[in-house]
Amino acid sequence: MYQMCVDKLGYLLHLYYGSTIENEDLDYLIRYIDRACSGQPYDALDDRTYSLDILPQEYSTFGSGDYRTSSILVENSDGSQTVDLRFKEFTIYEGKYKLQGLPSVYAKEEADTLEIILEDKHTNMEVVLLYGVFKNLDVITRAVRVKNNGAESVYLNRVLSTCLDFYENKYDFISFYGKHMLERQLERRHLTHGKTSVESVRGVSSHHQNPFVILCDRKADEDIGDCYGFSFVYSGNFLAETEVDQINQTRFVMGINPTGFRYCLKSQEEFIAPEVVMVFSQNGLGELSRIYHDVYRDHLCRGNYAKKQRPVLINNWEATYFDFDEQKILDIASMAADVGIEMLVMDDGWFGKRNNDLAGLGDWVVNHDKIPSGINGLCQKINDLGIKMGLWFEPEMVNEDSDLYRAHPDWCIKVPERSPVRARYQLVLDVSRKEVRDYIFDLITKVLDGTNIEYIKWDMNRNLTDLYSAGLSKESQGELFHRYVLGVYDLMERLIQRYPNILLENCSGGGGRFDPGMLYYSPQIWCSDNTDAIDRIKIQYGTSFGYPISSMGAHVSVTPNHGNGRCTDFKTRGIVAMAGTFGYELDITKLSDEEKDMIQSQIEEFKRNYDVIQYGDYYRLTDVMNNHDFAAWQFVDKQKTKSLCSYVSLTAKANAPTVRLRLKGLDASKKYRINKEDKIYSGDLLMKAGFVVPETFGDYKAINFEILEVQY
Ligand code: GLA
Repeated sequence: MYQMCVDKLGYLLHLYYGSTIENEDLDYLIRYIDRACSGQPYDALDDRTYSLDILPQEYSTFGSGDYRTSSILVENSDGSQTVDLRFKEFTIYEGKYKLQGLPSVYAKEEADTLEIILEDKHTNMEVVLLYGVFKNLDVITRAVRVKNNGAESVYLNRVLSTCLDFYENKYDFISFYGKHMLERQLERRHLTHGKTSVESVRGVSSHHQNPFVILCDRKADEDIGDCYGFSFVYSGNFLAETEVDQINQTRFVMGINPTGFRYCLKSQEEFIAPEVVMVFSQNGLGELSRIYHDVYRDHLCRGNYAKKQRPVLINNWEATYFDFDEQKILDIASMAADVGIEMLVMDDGWFGKRNNDLAGLGDWVVNHDKIPSGINGLCQKINDLGIKMGLWFEPEMVNEDSDLYRAHPDWCIKVPERSPVRARYQLVLDVSRKEVRDYIFDLITKVLDGTNIEYIKWDMNRNLTDLYSAGLSKESQGELFHRYVLGVYDLMERLIQRYPNILLENCSGGGGRFDPGMLYYSPQIWCSDNTDAIDRIKIQYGTSFGYPISSMGAHVSVTPNHGNGRCTDFKTRGIVAMAGTFGYELDITKLSDEEKDMIQSQIEEFKRNYDVIQYGDYYRLTDVMNNHDFAAWQFVDKQKTKSLCSYVSLTAKANAPTVRLRLKGLDASKKYRINKEDKIYSGDLLMKAGFVVPETFGDYKAINFEILEVQY
């Protein structure tokens, strides 16, 4: 239940968000107490107990007496910065609002929309709060539209998408930090007085913090406690901030990061602040995640592959890096086809002068020296082997050593006369400009049209710096971060509209842009460049809090692992990659016969469990950040007839304690068998007493337990 009210002065106050309470009016929760140093709006007259600094706000403003973190900060046409928003009107309609040019969750009759119009009468600025309400899912989405009805331009210096005030200071803040090769590591802290925030100012959502955070009771765990999730459907700079105030109230805000943001809103223009998907669960973090999995699988991912079985692929990156040619690709494809792999993805290096990372980005024309048959010819040869073909692009980037850069040096993001920061020897194309997008799109279509390419990996391998666009006026330079993201969305939308049958996988140096915005265009995202199974356990664990398993790109690679040198069994690597989209990234021509046989049986195992992994409910059975002995997770189909439980021992111990796993999500009254063994367990038994894991010997051993209902 979510409740707010319009008070006597026309302010929109937040009353409640949490478990449902039937038909109760909760405005009695608000206390009016005189607190010094917290002033009153003029029309509160002599009532010293009325202060915006204390009252719970539905959308906090800067400059009119609320000193806590604000949702909106405007430079008005006269240079002043006060915003005073009062309620004007509201509407409710069936279906969910849409946001022009931005990704957002979609629904038909499953959701309703509430629009509340607030206005500042002094400046004629209108702020529309949008709420999408999913009746049966415990999901509320929020977004904001700001309209300048004044006669002159104003600058928006901060327009966040959600603001939520809680009456108490009793929450933990869970966020997901990381870096290249180790994304989305769960971190949990008690909130204390003052501000706590995570953010990105990199132009992408980033490896370093994810635009997904949770506020939960201090005692909340996987199965108990009130939890609030906030997931920002946006792929650029973001801010997620909490503040505990002077009287122990907690405020949460989330939206586009105000750092580097200054949007010139001309008279009669509108600005849309992207969507935040809020999920509430009173049953702990596990349920919260499962709600996100459902809503993102069913209401965010689009296209044929949102629901269709995805091909098991082999990618040549870790097999060859830049050192490949057509014959090498065909050798890999041919052996892959023999063992049941369904698609070959040709990664970076097939175009322009791309023989290393110094050159070629921007020149999306096949390198005939490497690929004499061209993309179409190679694709036909691969199709003749009985498998599909996919291709890598990095459309947003350019190397200075490229024909594109030589022809259009002003098409990249950099400040005139200043030397730009380079990263991986590349610069970022200014895709906020339509002519740049048109050019890149045209090149891509020339490669794809008339071929049978069935998958694209869209990469993005550096962060933004030197923000300046030759396409924007001086007043609008502060819009570039945002307009860049809108440009990326426009390009991706064009791509999926033109090639509706292609499976798009996003990537950004691994998982540097793993966010719900990207999931709107691609149902899967490469989780990390780190393919080591043991590091992946933590990466995939963190990712699972806010994103479905079907979205996590995961491959089996070789050992010693190229990223950290660790050795793990082929079996362990398979079991960990199965908790994702599943595929291979290794030189299959160098594997032993035994390993190739294992690929065959892993693919069979994955497909046997495909439905339960990709569409079932996901349960984290261990806290992998703190349990260093073993990790376990579980999938259960919605009918509770089938389950898969994966177990990985971590550091081996002599004379080790017996491990007992208690399963979750089964039907207590049903009977189950594990791995076709004779013993029959009731669901009740498996969930309460659990089953005993066979002893393992050595580090990093993994076992899959397939649990099937026994019919009498
Ligand atoms: C990024 C990706 C990798 C690979 C390389 C190619 O690092 O994450 O998977 O595609 O680029 O340059």
